[in-house]
Amino acid sequence: MKIGVFGAGYVGLVTAVCLADLGFDLWVVEKNKAKLDKLRAGINTIYEAGLTELLNKNIELGRIQFTDEGKFVVENSEAIFLCVGTPSRPDGSADMSQIESAMKEIVEQTVQLGQYRLVVVKSTVPVGTSAWLRKIASMYARGHESLIDIASNPEFLREGAAVKDFMEPDRIVLGCSSERARELLTYIYQQFDCPKIVTDSNTAEIIKYAANSFLATKISFINMVADLCESVGGDISQVAEGMGYDKRIGKEFLRAGIGFGGSCFPKDLRAFVHVGQLHNLNFSLLEEVIKINQSRPQRVIARLKEMLWVLQGKKIAVLGLTFKPNTDDVRETPAAGLIAALKAEGAIVSATDPIGIDNFKKIYPLEAKDVHFHEKPEMALKNSHAVLLVTDWPEYNQLNWAGIRNEVELPLFLDGRNFLKNQTGLIDDFLYTAVGSKSTGGN
Ligand SMILES: NC(=O)c1ccc[n+]([C@@H]2O[C@H](COP(=O)([O-])OP(=O)(O)OC[C@H]3O[C@@H](n4cnc5c(N)ncnc54)[C@H](O)[C@@H]3O)[C@@H](O)[C@H]2O)c1
Repeated sequence: MKIGVFGAGYVGLVTAVCLADLGFDLWVVEKNKAKLDKLRAGINTIYEAGLTELLNKNIELGRIQFTDEGKFVVENSEAIFLCVGTPSRPDGSADMSQIESAMKEIVEQTVQLGQYRLVVVKSTVPVGTSAWLRKIASMYARGHESLIDIASNPEFLREGAAVKDFMEPDRIVLGCSSERARELLTYIYQQFDCPKIVTDSNTAEIIKYAANSFLATKISFINMVADLCESVGGDISQVAEGMGYDKRIGKEFLRAGIGFGGSCFPKDLRAFVHVGQLHNLNFSLLEEVIKINQSRPQRVIARLKEMLWVLQGKKIAVLGLTFKPNTDDVRETPAAGLIAALKAEGAIVSATDPIGIDNFKKIYPLEAKDVHFHEKPEMALKNSHAVLLVTDWPEYNQLNWAGIRNEVELPLFLDGRNFLKNQTGLIDDFLYTAVGSKSTGGN
């Protein structure tokens, strides 16, 4: 079976490569010329474990092709996955222009072709989007709308583990409005051994926003409790452990830290709040989740001040720029707000990241100005007055912290991810402080 994908970003490229690896023939449309040129040359455009190997393998097998013309994709694929971006608009709502423009192209080509096509929305979209796409189909298809079917199939993969998550999902959600769409999607996903929730498209669309909003709520909740632990003396890691053994709560997403970022949680929360406002509903719970998250950088600065008193002229080494480890994605990374806040205090910032430096400079030119970037963490740490761990890259657990102790100006360490508290080399030689607990160690 031939399958089309619109948008070769983090979701689209992973979807296309994984479906190709399952034996389907994939046609991928990408409108960004630089990205398209690379993909056509067989060069992977995102950092994701296992993706380069699968991409090369399936290009060699002739199972994946890249183009900028929707025409080829519509001609060649019965089912077409929409994986384009849905970024935030200034009012928090989701910007649906990429979805609309891809849909318009698909409808026009389908009408010319005169054959049935199923459009599967994998992008994260507000409830009602599939219904809108049906309206667009009837507006542009002028009497041929029965050729076009719409289904919702939200994606739940996590960057950093995207291939594994796509291949071994916890569940697959299929929002279908016709038997034919249901049959096609069931066929595409027949090799997946996980629960499949077949429902209507409104329900499928709500599931995605509700899931992301709930996970973000867990993070802000534990961060709120972490603040209490800092104020009265307590250990948030043990609080989370004690809570997490309760099966009704679960251990995941209870790690206190400097807050969530990335291209999904912040934007999806804003969009879900906007959906609530549109329907005159009280979604203030989620507004608080956002507020707590936004307050995290200032909390970190306050803790640094407790450690150093004056930040003006102090050299702070920032470990990690990406919003999480094992990805090159820096969209809405907490590092940006933290670096801006440090610079506003007059601190001198040196920063390091295994792969995120170029993307950070590109996306945050203002924040990156005057920051000293080093690929080697040891260089960023040299002569620093304090270290701030922003991203829990496994690499930072392998550093020779005892040796680094002799290279820093002051051995102060603030762990924004509660990540290195068992690193004895670090705990012994630095005055170590983690979010949500008291300082330990240090000589
Ligand atoms: N990144 C994630 O971890 C993740 C996880 C689950 C869901 N999602 C959702 O999936 C969607 C895509 O996210 P992403 O991170 O892959 O975004 P992205 O920005 O990395 O990729 C989107 C791609 O679509 C391309 N594009 C835009 N308009 C196009 C068009 N008309 N035709 C063809 N290509 C077009 C862009 O050039 C870009 O390469 C979003 O709605 C997002 O919320 C993302």
